[in-house]
Amino acid sequence: MEGSAISAVMHESASHIISPVIGLHHITLVTGNQEVNRRFYTEILGLRRVKYTVNQDDVFHRHLFYADEKGTTGSAITFFEWPELPKGSIGLGSPHHLAYSVSNIDAIPKWRAWLTSQGVSVTGPFIRDGRVSLYLRDPDGVNIEITYPNTDEVSQDYLNEQDKNAPTIIVITNDMRLVKFNHATPISYDLHQTALFFDKLLALKNSFTKPNPDQADTAIAAIGNDDQPDFLRYIVSDQASRGFVGKGNVHHIAMAVETDEEQRKIETRLNDLRIHNSGVIDRFWFHSLYFRDPDGNLLEVATKGPGYTRDEPLEKLGSSLILPPWEEPERNEIEKVLKETDRKNPIKWPPKYPKIRSPPETIVFPKNPVAAE
Ligand SMILES: [Fe+2]
Ligand SMILES: [Fe+2]
Repeated sequence: MEGSAISAVMHESASHIISPVIGLHHITLVTGNQEVNRRFYTEILGLRRVKYTVNQDDVFHRHLFYADEKGTTGSAITFFEWPELPKGSIGLGSPHHLAYSVSNIDAIPKWRAWLTSQGVSVTGPFIRDGRVSLYLRDPDGVNIEITYPNTDEVSQDYLNEQDKNAPTIIVITNDMRLVKFNHATPISYDLHQTALFFDKLLALKNSFTKPNPDQADTAIAAIGNDDQPDFLRYIVSDQASRGFVGKGNVHHIAMAVETDEEQRKIETRLNDLRIHNSGVIDRFWFHSLYFRDPDGNLLEVATKGPGYTRDEPLEKLGSSLILPPWEEPERNEIEKVLKETDRKNPIKWPPKYPKIRSPPETIVFPKNPVAAE
């Protein structure tokens, strides 16, 4: 992005502009095995597979969507299955973690008890910054936070007591459900550039920046709108080095807009600011527009509609391989290749879960990159 292009639009910030972005839409990651992935996200995390399809840019690889029962915008975690990729590493361009909200504080000790009983590596709960959070890693090494964003009158002693008395959980109950994303955490080298980028492009504000309680020489910078001021929580460090997106990493973070018109305006703005972008792409269930932030993190702006029920009734969502109409002529070839992928990529269940770091919201600097070991 060129400085002159940014300064040309700076005057527009004089009055408060409401962001067209309503929050997160979905977050897409990379898995090495779709069946291990399916079992983990449905049986262990209690989400529902709402779409079972292929990567439209690479149709011989799968794309799996998991979300709440209805596939509500902001609840979908999606995965490209790329068994051939190496494990990735976290850094600039390869975000650190994502966080799901739960609707009540009592869900936290229940999740801890449940995940531990399933052999998942867990750390926390931690109370900090107005939230109480647990952290875990999925079978590919993805860092996941489960958070309850209100710590009024909750003390560590209370949590310890709750933890001691946590019931044995034999099934995920409704009060434990992961509701929707609370935030995603990419890494930034230069907060000034990041804040300017989101402000000028999307009218998203850097509402606060605080020392990172997990790592004193880094900061947490919130980027968001009026309703959700921190749906992006960047870890900021001028020591951060480039990451690599592979198995166990976030591939891209998608933000939601209500309408195609809003999306077109963002496309125009990207072009005015001379930010390289994909142009609007029809993904059949929504429309997508891709670009990168100044640190190389891949971002998407996606429309809320038409929605996952466009080609499947609600009760059947995700139950069989579904292709956008323009890929149907390739179905036989696609199914053949996917079968061959599975033959070469047998599942191991239960998986060997990677250990979660503690404290969890830390980045490791150049000599020893954080690998999804
Ligand atoms: Fe977090
Ligand atoms: Fe996406």
